Amino acid sequence: MFVLHVALQGCLRGRDVVYGLTADTGGHIRYLLDLVAASAQDFSVAEIVVATRLFQGAPGPDYAVPEERISDKVRLVRLPSAAPGYRTKEAMHEEVASFAENLVAWIAAQKRAPDLIHAHYADAAAVAAIVEARLGIPFVFTAHSLGRVKAAMLGGDAAGAPDLARRIATEEAALAQATLVIASSRDEAEVQYAGYESYNPGRVRVIPPGSDLARFAAACPHPRVDALIDRFLDDPGKPPLLAMARPVARKNLAALIQAYGESPELRARANLVIVAGTRDDIDALDGDMAATMRDLLVLIDRYDLYGSVAYPKTHRPDDAPAIYAYARERGGLFVNPALNEPFGLTLLEASAAGLPLVATDSGGPNDIVETCGNGLLVDPRDPEAIAQACLRILADPALRARYVAGGARAAAAYDWDRHAARYHALLRALLAPEPPLRTPWQLLVCDIDNTLVGCEAALGIFRRWRSQQAGLAFGVATGRSFHSAMAVLEQQMSPRPQVMITSVGSEIYHLDANGVTYTADGAWRAVIEAGWDRGALGAALAGIDGLLPQGPLEQRPYKLSYFGDAAAARRVRAHLAEAGLAAGVIHSHDRYLDVLPAAASKGTAVDHVRALYGLPERAVFVAGDSGNDVEMLRARVQAIIVANYSDDLASNAALKHSYVARASHARGIIEGVAHFRRMLAHAS
Ligand code: GLC
Ligand code: MG
Repeated sequence: MFVLHVALQGCLRGRDVVYGLTADTGGHIRYLLDLVAASAQDFSVAEIVVATRLFQGAPGPDYAVPEERISDKVRLVRLPSAAPGYRTKEAMHEEVASFAENLVAWIAAQKRAPDLIHAHYADAAAVAAIVEARLGIPFVFTAHSLGRVKAAMLGGDAAGAPDLARRIATEEAALAQATLVIASSRDEAEVQYAGYESYNPGRVRVIPPGSDLARFAAACPHPRVDALIDRFLDDPGKPPLLAMARPVARKNLAALIQAYGESPELRARANLVIVAGTRDDIDALDGDMAATMRDLLVLIDRYDLYGSVAYPKTHRPDDAPAIYAYARERGGLFVNPALNEPFGLTLLEASAAGLPLVATDSGGPNDIVETCGNGLLVDPRDPEAIAQACLRILADPALRARYVAGGARAAAAYDWDRHAARYHALLRALLAPEPPLRTPWQLLVCDIDNTLVGCEAALGIFRRWRSQQAGLAFGVATGRSFHSAMAVLEQQMSPRPQVMITSVGSEIYHLDANGVTYTADGAWRAVIEAGWDRGALGAALAGIDGLLPQGPLEQRPYKLSYFGDAAAARRVRAHLAEAGLAAGVIHSHDRYLDVLPAAASKGTAVDHVRALYGLPERAVFVAGDSGNDVEMLRARVQAIIVANYSDDLASNAALKHSYVARASHARGIIEGVAHFRRMLAHAS
């Protein structure tokens, strides 16, 4: 594989990049050089060229050198464009056409043409689009930062300013033309891009960049930091439960204080250290931080935790490693009780610094703990569960050691080699497409969490089994969003589904002919749209007792998601009926509550796909484990409940027809399909 990267901005060179030398010599260069270095390690990559602009004069002669070898496989090639000198990113669009001409000529002069182009920033994508039109080489796009996000941050009329408007238009074109878009986070993939007209979520993949955890892996205690904490504590030698987060309601620090305050055993065994940002005057804190901070102080007083809780008023921005080291040296652990945590960088940092984790099971931490085996996930709404998890780790040195060892995997898992492996898998698939089955004769749709994934060995067996099922179309149906689902599937090396039913059936995506990207099912959207009034529903549910909105990433155009128990679910149903608002209300794991268009569920979505494939009912298998699978299992004749089910599925009267597998997770799916196939063979 020969990959050509194109990056026009800033002062790019192979080594000793002077970040900040110009305003455009920033993070994207670091990203590019780290990526290229990791990419070159893979034997399937034969050659990498980074093409950038050649310019004379300031900022220096290095940037007028036509070719620089970075390593064995990697060259930096500088090509001229219309202007001879340095150009800022605002002026770069004037160079696009001439640079593209020179790049086409350069490619023509090579022994071998690149297989793929990877464009960094939208002007480079404009170049790549010209090259693709001329030479037919497809391109991948990384935006690095987006004009619309900048405009939103600046506010007001900023988006109308000519520079920014042009940039946004170029980004629109890049998103429309790129074969694949690579994003770093779900927030980027699902929120930041969503403002663009040519946004196509199925074409975006989230691959987290390597994070620089070395600073945390090498964390040492610091006497100044120790003193900041110790002055609060009667017995500073006790292991601390450390939490480090901004004092905002979403971070749910109050639940940790409550967990600690209400557990005499935990209070006897450990101290609590809460590093909640820095403050001058609580009253001057922004947003909900002042109120949250006051709530924390009230709780500390209520439980009379003086002498056993530290909550330093200030620390320096680069004190974080020393704070983790403080906790590690005393045998402590790191707790993140957030109601929802989009990614969880602090968890990676704490873990790299040698701390076991007790983390919220909502959001990114799932992936982190799944990947690294570095701690326990807890329901953040359950202080008792938080206390139990902390005690389990404190009381069991072997368990603790296992989680600490898992932390060493964090640095390995979230690093550039791992990124490159997933990146190359996608590129290779693009170059040798395995298109979806157009006329399958059977369809299997599985829930993801605790059904398809949850047991690595079972998924391995499933993978092999799946590869032998000619004619069987494989799909997933999940409560997760498309990108959240895709991230677990790719991390766990699940077989690639040809249909993804996501956000509890409110979205359907079909695998494209290129075998990598997906297209949203517009017909399905039209079906469920009828009668859906998202605004009215949101407003109607605003004040309901015991109902808390999930994080912003979980809210989708056709899905409103909350936390709430069975009583809250009853209140929601009653309230919506009274208000005359039509919607589906789906409750699972006794705490997730999804509000969907009346016509949307995993069950109706599977039926939509069945009809699209022209399959009879008897050709469809579905498998699930929990409450949000009930609609799907109920509606299908051949329904499989895996052995590790919850929400009392097996005793649910509506699911009497289901096959309850003896095996758990993905093994249970195989067992169920075999069962129904046997039945079919009997009947015929
Ligand atoms: C997933 C989703 C969440 C939803 C839950 C149950 O966890 O991320 O938003 O409420 O599934 O369907
Ligand atoms: Mg599940």
